Amino acid sequence: MTTAMDDPGTPAESHPGETGSTQIPDTPQPEAGLPGFELPRRGRGESWFIAFEGSDGSGKSTQATLLARRTGALLTRQPGGTRLGEVLRDLTLGGSAGEVTDRAEALLMAADRAQHVELVIRPTLDSGRSVICDRYIGSSIAYQGHGRGLDPETVERISLWACDGLLPDVVIYLRVDHEESRDRTGSPRDRIEASGEGFHERVRSGFDSLAETEPSWVTVDGKGSIQEVAQRVEAAVLEHLERR
Ligand code: ADP
Ligand code: TYD
Repeated sequence: MTTAMDDPGTPAESHPGETGSTQIPDTPQPEAGLPGFELPRRGRGESWFIAFEGSDGSGKSTQATLLARRTGALLTRQPGGTRLGEVLRDLTLGGSAGEVTDRAEALLMAADRAQHVELVIRPTLDSGRSVICDRYIGSSIAYQGHGRGLDPETVERISLWACDGLLPDVVIYLRVDHEESRDRTGSPRDRIEASGEGFHERVRSGFDSLAETEPSWVTVDGKGSIQEVAQRVEAAVLEHLERR
């Protein structure tokens, strides 16, 4: 697996300050028992931008890691993926900043996205390599919009400005029921995860409505073994990208 943090060949390398750890921390290392495969061909030198979305514990990091390994795409994540992003991650998730207001949280996520798109995602795509991002704008709409109760359209507009309009070619929405994701994550691991049941229900219905309305979103059933889900992810990605 290569990540924005350890890949010597990515444009992130041209911003040495942007490389942090050698791999995404806490990312499970799934069995690589599945063969590699190629993403569909696109115009000359063009690449694909794939995002994973879903509730905490839905298996995004596991599946994003597997897909990156199998296709050779760059794996990165939000919040994070740049040096500033990792600091913002700590401020928003780690609790080191004390109280963070809802609007401040939305703006910090947008700042992370601005930095990440300009320094890592866009240059990598421009170099002809595909990018897989663990969470993107959908997470801001679901968590800061639906979850925190900020206007989802405003949150989306701020994020779209932050990322200069860059949208994924396909968003894989991994869906598992609430009990399953809670069983997988156990007790809350960060400030946002600890935001209570009502919050997470609103986040989930926010994701559901995005999946219903956004043509680039594909819902993938996250139940079953890691390998079973990976096969569903592969089929969904290929089918969606081949149609583009
Ligand atoms: P997310 O990134 O959505 O929070 P993770 O990929 O980190 O989810 O998975 C959360 C936990 O669930 C991890 O311990 C991971 O090993 C486990 N897990 C992931 N996919 C599956 C699966 N299909 N079946 C059982 N456990 C899984
Ligand atoms: P992370 O550990 O990466 O996610 P997961 O638990 O799914 O593996 O934590 C990221 C947290 O940040 C997660 O709780 C969702 C939240 N988040 C937002 O609230 N808004 C955003 O825009 C993004 C990208 C993440």
